[in-house]
Amino acid sequence: MVKGDFRSPDLAAEGERRIAWAWADMPVLASIRARWASEKPLEGLRIGACLHVTTETAGLVLTLKEGGAGVVLCASNPLSTQDDVAAALSVLYGVPTYAVRGEDKDTYYRHIENVLAEGPQITMDDGADLVSALHRNHPDLIAGNASGSGSGAGVFAGTEETTTGVIRLRAMAAQGALRYPIVAVNDARTKHWFDNRYGTGQSAIDGLLRATNRLLAGSVFVVAGYGWVGRGVAARANGMGARVIVVEADPLRALEAAMDGYHVTDMDEAAAAGGFFVTATGDVNVIDKPHFQKMRDGAIMANAGHFNVEINIPALTAMATETREARQGVREYSLSDGRRLYLVAEGRLVNLAAAEGHPAAVMDMSFANQALVVEQLAREGRSLEPGVYPVPEAIDRRVAELKLASLGMKVQNLTPEQRKYLESWEAGTE
Ligand code: NAI
Repeated sequence: MVKGDFRSPDLAAEGERRIAWAWADMPVLASIRARWASEKPLEGLRIGACLHVTTETAGLVLTLKEGGAGVVLCASNPLSTQDDVAAALSVLYGVPTYAVRGEDKDTYYRHIENVLAEGPQITMDDGADLVSALHRNHPDLIAGNASGSGSGAGVFAGTEETTTGVIRLRAMAAQGALRYPIVAVNDARTKHWFDNRYGTGQSAIDGLLRATNRLLAGSVFVVAGYGWVGRGVAARANGMGARVIVVEADPLRALEAAMDGYHVTDMDEAAAAGGFFVTATGDVNVIDKPHFQKMRDGAIMANAGHFNVEINIPALTAMATETREARQGVREYSLSDGRRLYLVAEGRLVNLAAAEGHPAAVMDMSFANQALVVEQLAREGRSLEPGVYPVPEAIDRRVAELKLASLGMKVQNLTPEQRKYLESWEAGTE
């Protein structure tokens, strides 16, 4: 019997085809899968994953399965699911997948419950919704680890994929509420330096253009947040000829944006100037009512941050005299003074909701980190205290080396003389 909740089994063949296409561009994960085929380091492990259900995630899930794990998957966002992938995983690969693109809030949380009902031992999360539901609704499913009193049968470790999830987990840990160890995969340099910057940078622009088919060249393009995601979006918009304005709350990052060549100001000023707006802050109401009041007729807004809270959609809805779908995935808000403002993909992650998310080549690195971290957790996770842990440096460097090799490039090896010189404080000019 096929387990899972997905749109239709008829989509499975197309999902299989697209999964194979993405897989061809994931050489690092492929090398891990090849090793695991004989080593089976995850034999008998039950993994509950709450990730964007995309072709790249399928590559990760099938790698975990090759390693011997049983995996159950649900969506980490109601709009990011690729229905054909969910069908292929459930029907063809025996991975129960609970995800339907466009699912409502109740279904979204019911699917998280479906994953927890399978009694996972390791959680893999993207945004910390799975971890938060586990702590709120099923604390009994947490193993208890070294210092606890649990039976050892339940969840003993986890991983977290994104910035917002890591922030939530650190808040839980600070309040003493986090009850098991979780590795912050997002914080590996081979994750956020590349995935957040180049992956979201490219795919957020891709989503914006697929949704609107507007010309970026010559436009004024406002990027809110100059973190890893914001830097990537700004660089790509700039490369396509837009004049980029950066809105950033941190003075150091604002200064970096200025010296990268962008105009830097606050949202009050940027609102009146922008033709496009992309938020990437992880913060709430970054574009708010006073900003809508200043925007030009025809301004287009989208969000690349994890939650759909960066643009104040309730305020925009309340201001509108009328709204309609102007184009698939683009909502028009008519204001009483005649201006029309546009919101792409309901303010949800534009790269996943209006395009296909990050290209496989970059998810190759993020998910290689996930895989190697799970392998280490399977060995050592039971002895870790609850808390948020970094990805070990050795894994980060290994992923970088493998990726570089797959690109046909190599690092400069240091000579013994150079290594000694760089490590000594006594060497001077003589
Ligand atoms: P980050 O922490 O590097 O950058 C966020 C920046 O926003 C910081 O520089 C912060 O000072 C700034 N900021 C915060 N509030 C602000 C405000 N009100 N106005 C202007 N600037 C403000 O985080 P990162 O890695 O760039 O991630 C940003 C968001 O994108 C997170 O929610 C993360 O989970 C999400 N994300 C989304 C991805 C996607 O596929 N769309 C992929 C990776 C991350």
